[in-house]
Amino acid sequence: MAASLVWISGASGGIGQALAKTVPWDDTRVIGISRGHPGDSIEHLEVDLADPSTWPVVGASFRRELEGFGGEHVVFVQAAGTIDPMGFAAEVDSEAYLRNVLLNSAAPQVLGQLFLAAVRSLSARRHLVMLTSGAARIVYPGWSSYGAGKAALDQWVRNVGDEQAKRGGVQVLSVAPGTVDTAMQGRLRDTPEADFPSRQKFLDLRQQGKLSDPQQVAGRIWGMIDRGVNNGSVVDLRNLDLP
Ligand SMILES: NC(=O)c1ccc[n+]([C@@H]2O[C@H](COP(=O)([O-])OP(=O)(O)OC[C@H]3O[C@@H](n4cnc5c(N)ncnc54)[C@H](OP(=O)(O)O)[C@@H]3O)[C@@H](O)[C@H]2O)c1
Repeated sequence: MAASLVWISGASGGIGQALAKTVPWDDTRVIGISRGHPGDSIEHLEVDLADPSTWPVVGASFRRELEGFGGEHVVFVQAAGTIDPMGFAAEVDSEAYLRNVLLNSAAPQVLGQLFLAAVRSLSARRHLVMLTSGAARIVYPGWSSYGAGKAALDQWVRNVGDEQAKRGGVQVLSVAPGTVDTAMQGRLRDTPEADFPSRQKFLDLRQQGKLSDPQQVAGRIWGMIDRGVNNGSVVDLRNLDLP
């Protein structure tokens, strides 16, 4: 049995994949949760998290893999997310809008609750980590459901972190990674300015070489988890004093 067990949603690309490749602990089993395959060295749970019928499948994975677990550390990082559909509310496809709300807002809360229930009786160190965004606080026309989803996650983390500090003992936190060079950034640069008026800001960041490297960001996220922050914290990775 591995000493550490780590689930990562969105491990098939971007920050999630970088996290899966840079887990800092020896003897760790990593299970990636996504539609696409995360790569050979990572176990894969193939699900479309914008479809609520798949959420119990993830819950069953938590319970199955943790049965009899006697290791030291259990982690669930929720990195799966989407900025689609880019555009103003009322002007975008309603089915795509629903999928955005389900993936960015509902799935992380429901999967978070399933994870907490599955790890409840363990004595191992336990972490539940959400990937959030500056869009939770800043107004970006074209990103209504993305920003609202991240704001919802942050408030969920504040509440549940406080609960777990009182009873449960799982460390729950939200981390904004900064502006990271992933497919998501490419997608927003490709969006017409009419649908995303802040597009130029992100074009400029790229041109000025200000996008962070996913692996470096992943290393800092693991460093933050290892070091620990107050339960229920919503952290901007750029403000942390980490290597
Ligand atoms: N990149 C940035 O600058 C930035 C900034 C702030 C916050 N974030 C946040 O960081 C997280 C990772 O972003 P990223 O830039 O790495 O994004 P990315 O490169 O677009 O990767 C997104 C990941 O989410 C998965 N995903 C998307 N839709 C899914 C679905 N329906 N079901 C299951 N998995 C799904 C994708 O896998 P499949 O397509 O294979 O399913 C992929 O692994 C996101 O939550 C994002 O909001 C990123």
